[in-house]
Amino acid sequence: MTRKKLIAGNWKMNGSLRESRELVAALTAGVSTSGANATMLLCPPFVYLPAVRDWLQGSSIALGGQDLADKEGVGAYTGEVSGAMLRDVGCSYVIVGHSERRALYGETDAVVAAKVQAAQRAGLTPILCVGETLEQREAGQTRSVVSAQVAAVVEAAGVRAFAEAVVAYEPVWAIGTGRTATPEQAQEVHAFIRGMVAARDATIAAGLSILYGGSVKGANARNLFAMGDIDGGLVGGASLVAAEFLEIFRAAA
Ligand code: PGA
Repeated sequence: MTRKKLIAGNWKMNGSLRESRELVAALTAGVSTSGANATMLLCPPFVYLPAVRDWLQGSSIALGGQDLADKEGVGAYTGEVSGAMLRDVGCSYVIVGHSERRALYGETDAVVAAKVQAAQRAGLTPILCVGETLEQREAGQTRSVVSAQVAAVVEAAGVRAFAEAVVAYEPVWAIGTGRTATPEQAQEVHAFIRGMVAARDATIAAGLSILYGGSVKGANARNLFAMGDIDGGLVGGASLVAAEFLEIFRAAA
């Protein structure tokens, strides 16, 4: 089965309106000439979403949010942004359970599972982030940590949730550190994740896109994407530099 290749840019809390405009202009110019069979996705800060949507008119680049509320509908949730609102401003994807949300904002596996469901009910494809810390890896807990993070979503939403979701394996020790997982280290965990899903539904597992994230750059992207279970990347720092992000995109395409 051929899986969807996705190269997602997670801008995190970076950029100004002017810088965003320049970045998007360079990316739309680069993508339109590359003839790629992969999808590029941009996840800017919430406040820039409508502007980025307008700048992306006529391009094949998709738009996504970096997070969403675990609550649905409307209501008294100061500071929160719902999945329906993200759809309303042109998003088709949303990142869920990024390690920074888990570590800095206390998101538990249960909250993350609720967000996956909220995203899907709003018609968004969630990109579920999982991954272990350095301490956990060194203690030999990589599989148990990742498996608990995936299992929380299976328990809450059923394996069917993975038919309309993307998973991103992001070892915390590789995020923003310049220390990328080797293609073999990443492949091992990707295959483990696919195996977990396959134990419940082989067809869903075969179609599931699993992205790698953590210090992906132009220079290491090709070797990562050559692995059998790595279907693209979730890119932070390098997604803010047009030439670098385009190189990563071309490595997947
Ligand atoms: P990085 O971030 O590419 O800067 O390591 C990846 C991420 O946090 O999604």
